[in-house]
Amino acid sequence: MAIAADQPIRWGVIGTGGIAATFARDLALLPDAEIVAVGSRSQAGADAFADRFAIGHRHSSYEALARDPEVDAVYVATPHPMHRDNALLAIQAGKAVLVEKPFTINAAEAAELIDAAKTQGTFLMEAMWTRFLPHVVRIRELIAAGRLGELRSMTADHGQWFPSNPEFRLFAPELGGGALLDLGIYPLSFASMLFGSPSTVTAVSDKAMTGVDAQTAVVLQYVGGRQSVSFTTLETRTANHASINGRDARIEIDGVFYTPTTFSIIDRDGATERVEIAHEGHGLRHQAAEVGRCLRAGLVESPVMPQAETLSIMETLDEVRRQIGLRYPTEV
Ligand SMILES: NC(=O)c1ccc[n+]([C@@H]2O[C@H](COP(=O)([O-])OP(=O)(O)OC[C@H]3O[C@@H](n4cnc5c(N)ncnc54)[C@H](OP(=O)(O)O)[C@@H]3O)[C@@H](O)[C@H]2O)c1
Repeated sequence: MAIAADQPIRWGVIGTGGIAATFARDLALLPDAEIVAVGSRSQAGADAFADRFAIGHRHSSYEALARDPEVDAVYVATPHPMHRDNALLAIQAGKAVLVEKPFTINAAEAAELIDAAKTQGTFLMEAMWTRFLPHVVRIRELIAAGRLGELRSMTADHGQWFPSNPEFRLFAPELGGGALLDLGIYPLSFASMLFGSPSTVTAVSDKAMTGVDAQTAVVLQYVGGRQSVSFTTLETRTANHASINGRDARIEIDGVFYTPTTFSIIDRDGATERVEIAHEGHGLRHQAAEVGRCLRAGLVESPVMPQAETLSIMETLDEVRRQIGLRYPTEV
C-alpha cells in the first residue's frame, strides 16, 4: 500500500493503556500523521480514549478497528500475549501494522505474523522505538563511518523498580510478565542492532513471586568473538546505561539509553567528545515517521528494523527463556 507524499498517515490504535496514550501524545508532534480511530475491548474504553485525544472513530472491538476503511496503519498496543491475534486482524484487513515490543510472545508467533504479512503484501514492523531516536541514528552513523574502529563488545542494562503486585502486567504470567520480555529486550535489541544474531547464548535468572523472571543476565557471543552483556531487572532502578566498545574508541550512552538522551565518545587515550541532541517530546513518534516513510516509498518492511532481525531477537529471547525455565500459559 503506497501512500502519496502529501497525504497524512491515518493511524488506528488497538488497546487504550499506558503506551497507547504515550503514542497518541507523541504522534501529535508529527506533522504528517494523525490518529483517526481507536479500538478497545469496550465501548466505554474506546470513548474515554477518543475523548482524551480527540479521535473520531471509536470502536468497541479490535475487529471493527481493523476493518475501518479510513485507517492506513494500525498500532498494536496490547499486552504481548495478545500481539499475535491482534496484529493478525489488522494484517488480514490489509493494513500496515506496527506491533509493540516484544513483537510476540515467542519466535513461532513472530514467524506466523511475518508470513501473514508477506502473503497479504502489507507492511509490518516491530515497534522498537529506540532504534529510530535521533541519538541512536547518530550513533549508527558514527559506527558506520568507523569512528570507534572495529567493534568488540557492548554492555547495557535496563532496570526499573516496580511494587510487588502479582496482578500488575509485569508480574502476571498470563500477561507475558517478567523483566526479560518487557525490559531486557531493549539491551538485547541494541546488541542485535550492533552485532546481528548471536552464535552462543548464556543466561542466568532469578524468579519473582509469580514465577516470571525478576532479573536476568544474558551474555551473547557473535562471529569473530564479539560479545554483549545485557542485564535486566524489575526489582531495582539501575543506571540504564549502554557502552559500545571499539578498538579505537567507545561510546557511553547516558541513562536512560533507550530514550532520547546524550552520549560521549571516548577515545582510547581518554579524549572525550560530548554529543547532545536537542529533543522534544517522548520519542515514540520517530518509529511512526519510519512507518510513514516506508509506506510512501511502497516498502513492506523497514530496513532499519527488518522482520528477519525481529525474528532473530525473538529466537534469542526463546533460547534465554529455555535456559532459565520460563514458559507462558499460552505456550503450554
Ligand atoms: N515502547 C515502550 O516504551 C513501551 C512501554 C510500555 C509498554 N510497552 C509495550 O506495550 C504493550 C502494552 O503495554 P502497556 O503498558 O500499555 O499495558 P497496559 O497499560 O496494561 O494497557 C494494555 C491495553 O491492552 C488492552 N488489553 C487487551 N487485552 C488485555 C488484557 N487481557 N489485560 C489487560 N489489557 C488488555 C487494554 O485496552 P482495552 O481495554 O481498551 O482493550 C489495555 O488498556 C506491551 O506489549 C508492552 O511491552 C512498550
